[in-house]
Amino acid sequence: MEKAIIVYGSTTGNTETLSRALEEELAQRFEVTRKDVIDTDPHEVLNYDLIVLGSSTWSDGELQEDFQDFYEEMDTIDLAGKKVAVFGPGDSNWDDSFCKAVDILEAKARERRATLVAPGFKWDGEIDDQALTEIKKWGTQLH
Ligand SMILES: Cc1cc2nc3c(=O)[nH]c(=O)nc-3n(C[C@H](O)[C@H](O)[C@H](O)COP(=O)(O)O)c2cc1C
Repeated sequence: MEKAIIVYGSTTGNTETLSRALEEELAQRFEVTRKDVIDTDPHEVLNYDLIVLGSSTWSDGELQEDFQDFYEEMDTIDLAGKKVAVFGPGDSNWDDSFCKAVDILEAKARERRATLVAPGFKWDGEIDDQALTEIKKWGTQLH
């Protein structure tokens, strides 16, 4: 069975809630590990076939704060041959910076030579049942 890791950073719990729903979906096809980014060294992700990163956006277009160190250390890893996908909740009241963290992490993954296996999942507003359904649907695309 292929191995997947979900690494999430979450200030008020929304990204974490999405990560749990995604784990449920991916567990049907992968051996899944789900970790808070604060406890994760970027080199760990090299042990997995699929790497899913989840970050909310804060401070007008920045990564969730726990993701900062991980993001900088991504410069030390080569993701060639790795499958990567990115998700995050946000709020469209922030207009131009809506879910910018998803774009920032996708750009970094590309720069580190990863293969992005699906368009980033961006969720606007409250994490309700529909959000959980939609992230699970998104998860079915990740191979
Ligand atoms: C002070 C503040 C700044 C925020 N900045 C942004 C932003 O720039 N872009 C965005 O899409 N959402 C922004 N948000 C919304 C959060 O990303 C959203 O509430 C998200 O669900 C939080 O997820 P978390 O609990 O996993 O951290 C902001 C929220 C607050 C309170």
